[in-house]
Amino acid sequence: MHIIETINVEYQYPGGTHALQGVDLKIKSGSKVTILGPNGAGKSTLLYLFNATLRPTSGKVLLNGSPMRYNSSSLRQIRKTVGMVFPNPDDQLFAPTVKQDVSFGPLKLKLSKEEVEERVSESLQLVGISELESMPPHHLSTGQKKRAAIAGVLAMDPNILVFDEPLSGLDPTGQADMIELLDQLNADGKTIIVSTHRMEFAADWADNILVLKDGKVLKEGVPEEIFSDPALIHDANLQVPVPVQTHNELRLRGFNNEQTPLSVLELVESVVSVFNDNGYQDLSSASNGIIWIVRTPRAVEGGVEMMPPDIVQHLVDIRKPHKIGAMGTVAKSIIINSELKYDFGTEVVNNAVSASLRGLSTMIFATGTMAGLAVDRIAQLNLRLNKKIESHMIA
Ligand SMILES: Nc1ncnc2c1ncn2[C@@H]1O[C@H](COP(=O)(O)OP(=O)(O)O)[C@@H](O)[C@H]1O
Ligand SMILES: [Mg+2]
Repeated sequence: MHIIETINVEYQYPGGTHALQGVDLKIKSGSKVTILGPNGAGKSTLLYLFNATLRPTSGKVLLNGSPMRYNSSSLRQIRKTVGMVFPNPDDQLFAPTVKQDVSFGPLKLKLSKEEVEERVSESLQLVGISELESMPPHHLSTGQKKRAAIAGVLAMDPNILVFDEPLSGLDPTGQADMIELLDQLNADGKTIIVSTHRMEFAADWADNILVLKDGKVLKEGVPEEIFSDPALIHDANLQVPVPVQTHNELRLRGFNNEQTPLSVLELVESVVSVFNDNGYQDLSSASNGIIWIVRTPRAVEGGVEMMPPDIVQHLVDIRKPHKIGAMGTVAKSIIINSELKYDFGTEVVNNAVSASLRGLSTMIFATGTMAGLAVDRIAQLNLRLNKKIESHMIA
């Protein structure tokens, strides 16, 4: 069964715009889905249907296999299951303080006072803005506002999270932090659906991509299927990510590399493998560096205090990694708290794998469920790159 499904959905705005025209799609539970398409394609309209902000003019939206109903008790249930994060946090934040804003949803759920408190502090910790709880939202930076708006949605504990252009308006570090947060939520078991114009992000991050244009689904598939289809990219006014562009150019110059690279790491690997066949002296090491993964507690399990500096220092002293990586806000705080520095704070697994191929070992500190995500991602890259990089969980 799919967690969300639409059957022949049409949506016409009261003004007459026919924004969705016969949309059929299926979304798997626990997956990371990206919606791509030019401005006006109908991305936002489609996302609004997922939490019943809009109701289809005709056709059906199924949630957990049942057609959505739009009476007030069904709507309450839908809003608890599907959280919606709007592109502009100013549309979402309205209370005098961040904490009051994040409490607003759970207070309406008839939970006990303690439960509300717990959910609010957990959500604020998860997005990394606990220290801002008594600030007025309009005093926050764009990145902080976005986090506050997300905390408000997380406090409802939805199973499915829908983000309309979560990277818009953020600087590069802000974007990397946002992607990490999306990964963390997915590692916690949530289904994540995002619309975006960032092709690099879609290629490297999504399990599945849906391409929309003029209110219709042009194609649905894994990133490689989408970005290796030039006609589709052209039809949908998209652009291929830079690694794919480079790959295409190299092929036109006679490079015989089949697999479409979804990241710089994959592009470099494909170039190196072609060079190797031609006697090029590869700087990659004969033996791959090991990747150790240390699962750090999450904020809610005690956070930084649960992993004192001497333990962190001890782990580093016995394994002597060449590089240190940190995934998630708690892991980053733990490293800083231990007066160490991390070499990789974004694209941590890709960077660790790249280091490994040069014979360097990395110790990745990963917050909570992100440790499992790192293991899965290394396995996935081993498969795609045809490597045997060793990774070990350190308990
Ligand atoms: N509130 C609205 N009233 C009337 N038309 C709208 C409204 N919102 C969006 N539209 C129209 O619906 C179409 C799809 O818009 P939208 O879903 O916002 O696309 P996207 O998010 O892909 O840019 C566009 O033609 C847009 O002009
Ligand atoms: Mg939009």
